[in-house]
This record gives sequence, structure tokens and C-alpha cells, in this order.
Amino acid sequence: MALLYAAVLILLCFCESASTTVDLEYGGVPLWINRLLGEPSVLSLKGRIDPAWFRANNPQACPQQCDCPIQWPTALYCDHRGLADVPEQLPNRIQYLFLQANNISSLSSTFLVNITGLRWLILDHNQLQNDKLDLDALQNQTELCYLFANHNHLTSVPSSLPAGLMQLRLAHNQISSISPGAFQNLHNLTLLLLQGNKLQTISEGDLKGLIRLNLLDLSGNLFTSVPKNLPSTIQQLYLSNNSLSALSEDSFEGLHQLKYLRLGQCKLQSHSVHQMVFNLPSLVELDLSYNKLTTTPTVPTSLQYLYLEANQIQEFNTTSFCREVGPLNYSRMKILRLDGNKISHNQLPPDWVFCLRVLQHIYI
Ligand SMILES: *[C@@H]1O[C@H](CO)[C@@H](O)[C@H](O)[C@H]1NC(C)=O
Ligand SMILES: *[C@@H]1O[C@H](CO)[C@@H](O)[C@H](O)[C@H]1NC(C)=O
Ligand SMILES: *[C@@H]1O[C@H](CO)[C@@H](O)[C@H](O)[C@H]1NC(C)=O
Ligand SMILES: *[C@@H]1O[C@H](CO)[C@@H](O)[C@H](O)[C@H]1NC(C)=O
Ligand SMILES: *[C@@H]1O[C@H](CO)[C@@H](O)[C@H](O)[C@H]1NC(C)=O
Ligand SMILES: *[C@@H]1O[C@H](CO)[C@@H](O)[C@H](O)[C@H]1NC(C)=O
Ligand SMILES: *[C@@H]1O[C@H](CO)[C@@H](O)[C@H](O)[C@H]1NC(C)=O
Repeated sequence: MALLYAAVLILLCFCESASTTVDLEYGGVPLWINRLLGEPSVLSLKGRIDPAWFRANNPQACPQQCDCPIQWPTALYCDHRGLADVPEQLPNRIQYLFLQANNISSLSSTFLVNITGLRWLILDHNQLQNDKLDLDALQNQTELCYLFANHNHLTSVPSSLPAGLMQLRLAHNQISSISPGAFQNLHNLTLLLLQGNKLQTISEGDLKGLIRLNLLDLSGNLFTSVPKNLPSTIQQLYLSNNSLSALSEDSFEGLHQLKYLRLGQCKLQSHSVHQMVFNLPSLVELDLSYNKLTTTPTVPTSLQYLYLEANQIQEFNTTSFCREVGPLNYSRMKILRLDGNKISHNQLPPDWVFCLRVLQHIYI
């Protein structure tokens, strides 16, 4: 038995070194989230352990359709088993409920009735539909901090979400609207994933209440311009893979803490991108790869990472990186990607080394 336990640990460790990191935010339960994929895939125990062994050795109640790891008594794994409904009689000790990769389309108002301390509810890869959700079920879950429902059939961001949420992951649904007031109580939400949906606009008030939002992923939606009315606390804004027709000088107005901006694959053209739109003093990383830019855009000297690969840039203008060069006036750029453009190393003007003096890598 000790051997089997050791084997589980080794598997988990291997998993970690292969691109995942431990998440310590939930009381030490050794579960893994893959941060390299756009949205995390929560580790499954399926195929890694022998459920019969757990069942035979665990004195605690465990629904027939689930696995209850002895080492993590507050976790319940009911993932990857084609369940059409949430199992009944969930043990009231559970804090981490894994229901990903099933066939669940509805949540009843009572499925959590005997549970008070739920912290994670993982529902990725199911068939959840808005009209079959009774989120009153979540209202009493004051400890719930992670709600994951990526890859479902939701058409709008539901309202009545519990106020303590810190992460809400709704990527790859068919969301085209946000229910009025959906976020008004979510003062602790720091991460909101909505990539791979069908959003066209964000109206005034849609994101009202998100006073701590740090990361907002709106990639792969139907935006034709940078949405207005975004919370001013955002540090990471991902808008890649939207067909943005133009960027004006004030496209990112009010986002004074913006550090990481991703605008790859947005069909951007130099003539419709305002020269100063990226000159935001807080910016650290800017991704403009796979667009149709023909000139280097003006960026702040604070910028450290600039991705311009796969554009149509024909000349390198040092002024884009340094308005003037002096002992204290130089670009902080560390990595600059210009590969896949119409420019070669010998086209760099002689003054570029004085401006980009702390550059570590240039790809050209
Ligand atoms: C989910 O249900 C559909 C039909 O409703 C079925 O074809 C499919 O195999 C089910 N998926 C799983 C994982 O059981
Ligand atoms: C809740 O607990 C009561 C009493 O133990 C039990 O009768 C009921 O079936 C439970 N409900 C659910 C949904 O687990
Ligand atoms: C929430 O808690 C209140 C008070 O404990 C209880 O009356 C109500 O039925 C609970 N609601 C749900 C959906 O469990
Ligand atoms: C939000 O987080 C703070 C600090 O962690 C906590 O005290 C507060 O209860 C949380 N709010 C809700 C509604 O859970
Ligand atoms: C871009 O978004 C569309 C949907 O708008 C999606 O079908 C496509 O897979 C996405 N492409 C990439 C490379 O993410
Ligand atoms: C470089 O950019 C500056 C400011 O946009 C512009 O005035 C200048 O003409 C450009 N230089 C070249 C060689 O294109
Ligand atoms: C750096 O540039 C700013 C304005 O761009 C100027 O005011 C300042 O004098 C310059 N500093 C040095 C040391 O050249």
C-alpha cells in the first residue's frame, strides 16, 4: 500500500515537472492546474490510482460514482465518468468537488443542501445550460472561491453567483451576454476567463462590482473594437483573436495598471492603429504577433517584452522605442521578436544599440 501511495506521488511529481505548478491557495490539497494551456485542466485521478483500493481502505462514506482519496478527505473526484447528473448524497465534509468531463446539463437548487464548506466546484467539459441552472444552490456557499465551467453550453454569464468567488472560468461556452448585475457582489473576483465565447460588446454596468479584477481574458470572441467599461484594476488584458478594426488613442484609457496586453491575431493594420495607443507607462509585455502591421508601433520605455512576429514590418524605427537617448533615457526591452517580418538584421539602424541597451534577445 505504501508502494502504491509512493507511486501516486511520483506520478503527480512527474506531472508537475511536465508543465504544471502546485496551487497552494486551497489548504494544501495536492491538486494541479496546468497554467500553460489557455485554461487550466484540473488533474484527474482517473487511470492513475486504483479506485477499488481507496474504496476498500477508506472508512468514510463515498458516493458509488466517485472516488474519495484517503489522503485528501475533503476532495471528491467524480470526473470523467459520463454522469448525467450530480451524484446524490454528497458527503457533507467535502470542500473540493471534481465533476469535470461528464454529461451534466443541469444543477438543481438542492444538490449542495447538506454542504456548507465547498471551496472548489469544477464543472469543466460538461453540457451545462443556462435554463437548467438553479444557482440558488450556490448562494449558501460562502467559502466557494473557484468556480470552473469551461467548455459547457452556457449562453450568458449567470447571475446569483456566490459573493466570495475569486476565480470564475467560463471559457469556451457560447456566451453572448452578461446577465444584469451578474458581477455586482463579486468584490473578491481577481480572475475572469471568457475566452472562446461570442461576446460582441461589454456594456456599461456589465462588469460593475469587479473592484479587484486582475486578469480578464476575452480572446477569441467577436469584438470589433476594444471594449469600454473595463475595471480600472486590470493588469492582464487578453484580447487576441478578435477582429479589431482600429485602435484609437484612448482605446485603453483608464487602465492605469495595465501590464500585460495581448492583441495577437487581431487583423491590426498600421494605418488604423493610433501611433500612441500603446504608450502606456505601466506596460511590461505587449503581444502584437500575427497581425498586419507594416511599421513598429511606439511603445513606452518601460516595456520589457514585445512580440511583433508574423507581421509585415519593413523597417525598424528606433524612435518607436526611445523618443530620445541619454544616460537615463533608454528602453528597458529584454526580448524583442521581429521574426516573420520583411526586415533583416542588417537593416537595423546604427543607433539601435544605444536605445535597446539592456536587450537580452532579438529575434529577426
Ligand atoms: C453524453 O451523452 C451523449 C448523448 O446524450 C452520449 O452520446 C455521450 O456518449 C455521453 N458522453 C459520455 C462521456 O458519456
Ligand atoms: C441531506 O441530509 C439529509 C439528512 O441526512 C438526507 O435525508 C438528505 O437526503 C440529504 N440530501 C442530499 C441532497 O444529500
Ligand atoms: C440556505 O441556508 C438557509 C438558512 O440556513 C436555508 O433556509 C436555505 O434552505 C438554504 N438554501 C439552499 C439552497 O440550500
Ligand atoms: C473577500 O475577501 C476578504 C479577504 O480575504 C474576506 O475577508 C471577505 O470575507 C471576502 N468576501 C466575501 C464576500 O467572501
Ligand atoms: C479564434 O477564435 C475563433 C472563434 O472566434 C476560434 O474558432 C478559433 O479557434 C480561434 N483561433 C485560435 C488560434 O485560437
Ligand atoms: C520614425 O518615427 C518617427 C515618429 O513616429 C517619425 O517622425 C520618423 O520619420 C520615423 N523615421 C523613419 C526613418 O521612418
Ligand atoms: C529624458 O527624457 C526626458 C523627456 O523625455 C527629459 O526631460 C530628460 O531630461 C531626459 N533625461 C536625460 C538624462 O536625458
